[in-house]
Amino acid sequence: MLKDLPLERVYQFIEPGPTVLLTTQAPNAKPNVMPMSWHMMVDFEPPLIACVVNQSNHSFAALKETGQCVLAVPPAELVETVSALGNCTGNDTDKFGVYSLTPLPAAHVVAPLIGEAIVNLECKVKDTTLMGTYNLFVMQCVKAWVNPKLHDAKMIHHHGFGHFSVDGEMLKVKSKMR
Ligand SMILES: Cc1cc2nc3c(=O)[nH]c(=O)nc-3n(C[C@H](O)[C@H](O)[C@H](O)COP(=O)(O)O)c2cc1C
Repeated sequence: MLKDLPLERVYQFIEPGPTVLLTTQAPNAKPNVMPMSWHMMVDFEPPLIACVVNQSNHSFAALKETGQCVLAVPPAELVETVSALGNCTGNDTDKFGVYSLTPLPAAHVVAPLIGEAIVNLECKVKDTTLMGTYNLFVMQCVKAWVNPKLHDAKMIHHHGFGHFSVDGEMLKVKSKMR
């Protein structure tokens, strides 16, 4: 027998892409970073990624002002740090300093890359049409970096309220796509 699923729990089943760290660099401020799991791919090339960043976050203001960010994919080993980064704000915390993350200069944006990340995506805001309604920014990835030392690292996926899953077995099946 199927049971009723409360609507406020729907996101826990749809959400789990990799949890990413969104970095920003507002003028006259320290670099900042927030975990984000409400995102989706919108196009292949150039890569477009839709991101929901709550308007009460420091990151929202920085993103709106600079139109730039980095999306960094953390390895599973950083799960405690990821959770902690989401429970404080750049309005009053130097998150890179407190959580010992390594900011590295990006090539095309002012926001920093994260040295500990598996992949860093330099992004520019492409479309804010739905920013006012849904806090939704469409980002265009203009440069991507991969950390060869973390080739086998696992990503984490957020299931809400401090629950994460870790990448499991990789399956390869026939596909007409590259
Ligand atoms: C795993 C995880 C995923 C999160 N996903 C999002 C998200 O997709 N969008 C969002 O606005 N906040 C999300 N949050 C909450 C923000 O990270 C949190 O509000 C953070 O403190 C904002 O930091 P800031 O004020 O420095 O920008 C998430 C938090 C965690 C722990």
